[in-house]
Amino acid sequence: MVDGGCVAVIGSIAIASLLRYTLSTLSIPFIFSEHTCGVTVMPFRMRLSTALIALAICVHLPLLGQSIPDGTVFYTEGPRTRDGIGKYYMGREIAQVMGHQGISWLERDNREDEEAPSKAIALLDLKPNAVIADIGAGSGYYSFRIAQKYPSSEVLAVDIQQEMLNYITSKAAAEKITNVKPHLGNLKSVQMPPETIDAALFVDAYHEFSQPYEMMTSIFNALRPGGIVYLLEYRAEDPKVPIKPLHKMTQAQAKKEMNLVGFNWVKTKNDLPWQHFMIFEKPR
Ligand SMILES: C[S@@+](CC[C@H](N)C(=O)[O-])C[C@H]1O[C@@H](n2cnc3c(N)ncnc32)[C@H](O)[C@@H]1O
Repeated sequence: MVDGGCVAVIGSIAIASLLRYTLSTLSIPFIFSEHTCGVTVMPFRMRLSTALIALAICVHLPLLGQSIPDGTVFYTEGPRTRDGIGKYYMGREIAQVMGHQGISWLERDNREDEEAPSKAIALLDLKPNAVIADIGAGSGYYSFRIAQKYPSSEVLAVDIQQEMLNYITSKAAAEKITNVKPHLGNLKSVQMPPETIDAALFVDAYHEFSQPYEMMTSIFNALRPGGIVYLLEYRAEDPKVPIKPLHKMTQAQAKKEMNLVGFNWVKTKNDLPWQHFMIFEKPR
């Protein structure tokens, strides 16, 4: 995919080069000599071509400005590998979304032994009455455990699959849990008003976002100043982590992508067996 920014730059250079070439082949006489009254004056042909180059760049500048806010400038198309969608974000191929048929895998009995989610939940630093969004909540595996550990908090369990939210709704009703709220987002937005949440948690979800720039921008806006992002991704640096490559991420890549939308990296905790536990902050 070629974005507007590239078109603008390539267009400016192409027009400028064409003009320079055309002028160099014309035999326009110099209007001024190179030394008039002792002052060095640029030949007319050179001054004209320089002015035209400047004009071409100015004409294309608005395009450069437009391409940044929608994030498309950071997306490219490439080979579609196994488990991927053939769309790349800052050099990383985006993974396919895990369907609701995977609920039993998310709820598997040995998950605690493999990933130590209770350790991850203990690492969250939530103030009393905090609002935390569990984004890409799936079956709500984390949402329910957070709600139990932090009973004064409100947990917004966000997903794009209605089937996941139905599962969460039924479970909350069956277990009489009132501080987990299912919340439908879309591919580009978390669909929340500005500055209404204190923290956002992503467990094994961010790498599947098909519009990561737009999603993270909407989450940035939904967080209050000083709000925290907890990003849990399987460690791509560690070949011993038995997870498909596109469902893993390096710290360097995660930092690059979070910085792009304005988050500052705070620290990474290395307490979990398979995942990075990365903490980012929205500036105050
Ligand atoms: C692998 S599951 C992880 C579920 C849960 N976090 C867990 O660890 O148990 C990823 C979830 O992210 C959701 N998802 C993918 N793209 C999303 C988006 N743009 N916004 C919200 N959820 C999304 C999928 O529907 C899926 O339920």
